[in-house]
Amino acid sequence: MHAHIFERVWLIIGALMLLLFLVLVSLSGFVYGKHLPGEVEQIDPKLVRQDSRFAAPKVEQVAPGRFQVNVLTQIFSFSPPVIEVPRGAEVTFVVTSADVIHGFEIAGTNVNQMVIPGYINNIKARFDKPGEYLIICNEYCGTGHQAMQGKLIVR
Ligand code: CUA
Repeated sequence: MHAHIFERVWLIIGALMLLLFLVLVSLSGFVYGKHLPGEVEQIDPKLVRQDSRFAAPKVEQVAPGRFQVNVLTQIFSFSPPVIEVPRGAEVTFVVTSADVIHGFEIAGTNVNQMVIPGYINNIKARFDKPGEYLIICNEYCGTGHQAMQGKLIVR
């Protein structure tokens, strides 16, 4: 088969870029241990309210400067609707869904996670700027999706 020299060069460049991508992804995963966050624990969505963390979800101080925030998402709200944590604290959000897929995004921060029923996400964060942050659902979950929001207060 005859291929023009330019075609061959582009094929080689494309193959090299693909190889470079695979090497970088493998290095970051296997050597530097970078993995996707979340989905570490499974739960039956019908039984989430029987789990002590999600029966009455709230902010818990687990150690000095460390907080665990249990969050239950459901159509069309977050429980608790208002979360308050101190500035600079190490915060772990433990999030699950009681029904359908929701999003858990804290606007203006790196916290942004898809919440899938059946899974419990652990999201670690630290907030250095005091203020109020909007928590929004960024996965379409039904007719009330656009009204599904919460608030994070960093004091
Ligand atoms: Cu919950 Cu959109």
